[in-house]
Amino acid sequence: MVNTANATQAEIGVIGGSGFYSFLDDVTEVHVDTPYGSPSDSLFLGEIAGRRVAFLPRHGRDHHLPPHRINYRANLWALRSVGVRQVLAPCAVGGLRPEYGPGTLLVPDQLVDRTQSRQQTYFDGLPLADGTVPKVVHVSLADPYCPTGRAAALKAARGRDWEPVDGGTLVVIEGPRFSTRAESRWYAAQGWSVVGMTGHPEAILARELELCYASLTLVTDLDAGAESGEGVSHEEVLEVFAANVDRLRPVLFDAVAGLPAQAERECLCVGALGGLETGIRLP
Ligand code: ADE
Repeated sequence: MVNTANATQAEIGVIGGSGFYSFLDDVTEVHVDTPYGSPSDSLFLGEIAGRRVAFLPRHGRDHHLPPHRINYRANLWALRSVGVRQVLAPCAVGGLRPEYGPGTLLVPDQLVDRTQSRQQTYFDGLPLADGTVPKVVHVSLADPYCPTGRAAALKAARGRDWEPVDGGTLVVIEGPRFSTRAESRWYAAQGWSVVGMTGHPEAILARELELCYASLTLVTDLDAGAESGEGVSHEEVLEVFAANVDRLRPVLFDAVAGLPAQAERECLCVGALGGLETGIRLP
């Protein structure tokens, strides 16, 4: 039962990936505008184990946004503006090693950015509509994911008999096309684990907003370099992700329940801005 007094507030955000367009049953739909434009969709707010949760379908509920047109800045800002401080972010990926076949759940601990056109900072020196001007700020992304969020995701998966891969590198490509076989082999040769199109710039934007952020990557296909067939198709990605959403949902429920209370966050994400005067007022 939703407590209507805080129906428009949430502490934990879940960003749904391809094939994952709704999460909670009893929701309040809230449209949030931001200084960076509109997020991918409304936020859908509800409750899990007494925790307030905001769900945002990354591509929009009808999947109208390709990865390079998602307004990542607006998405993270919108989540923060309803109170969210911890984010769990499932996404579909291709496996770069034969042992990471479809259905593998990998919780990455590293990230490589191979995107080209995305706005990946709030601190770009350009004035906002309200006249405030962000200062030049350089945030550390040495460890791009929240260790607490990762631990909650891993524990939740194990509790649901889904042995996850603990750690690995997610390489994020610009898309919307998939990789050539040569690109894919090159990514694998670097020792990277999985390839996706949406994990960046979410992690850095979350860090700039001092949000905890952990990614749960679900392998939907073996990427071109790891298989000998025709390469991956969009239909295959959607089909495999959709087939695994019923498995992923309870893992996310348990992970949400396992996250610390807001006031008890002790990870590196909390003080990512180091108390600096940034020129923007976080919502
Ligand atoms: N998302 C799902 N599968 C993918 C792949 N093989 N490459 C990039 N993004 C993906």
